[in-house]
Amino acid sequence: MNNTLYIVWNQNNELGISIIDEQHRGIVATINAFYYFINRGNGLNALRPTLNMLSQYTSIHFRTEETLMKETGYKGIEEHILLHEKLKQNTIEIAREATTYKEPEIALKFLKSWWLGHINGKDKLYAPHLKKTLGIQ
Ligand SMILES: [Fe+2]
Repeated sequence: MNNTLYIVWNQNNELGISIIDEQHRGIVATINAFYYFINRGNGLNALRPTLNMLSQYTSIHFRTEETLMKETGYKGIEEHILLHEKLKQNTIEIAREATTYKEPEIALKFLKSWWLGHINGKDKLYAPHLKKTLGIQ
């Protein structure tokens, strides 16, 4: 059995806002569970449940981020919401592709690169503003 995780969470991925970090870890955990099934040759069966779970949890997560951005008057909110919308759209397309070609790895790779890129990119941009406004050290 391959015992490695696909994404190993580390401190550099943290924004320092507990609820957001916690949710990000939840998303990463779901992607890792998906990888586990792919490794065991069961990726196609896990594709739909993984995407359903992610889609529901992602709505909660995006709502959390967007509400905090709104409450703190973050200026980049509109641009950030557009990225969230785009992810939802892209995930639907990728899911279709992965199903058509029977290659769950397509979805796996996309999820890893989008989420890590987003967490360490655009999310890092709003973090200082949120922390300052919310008084988080
Ligand atoms: Fe975000």
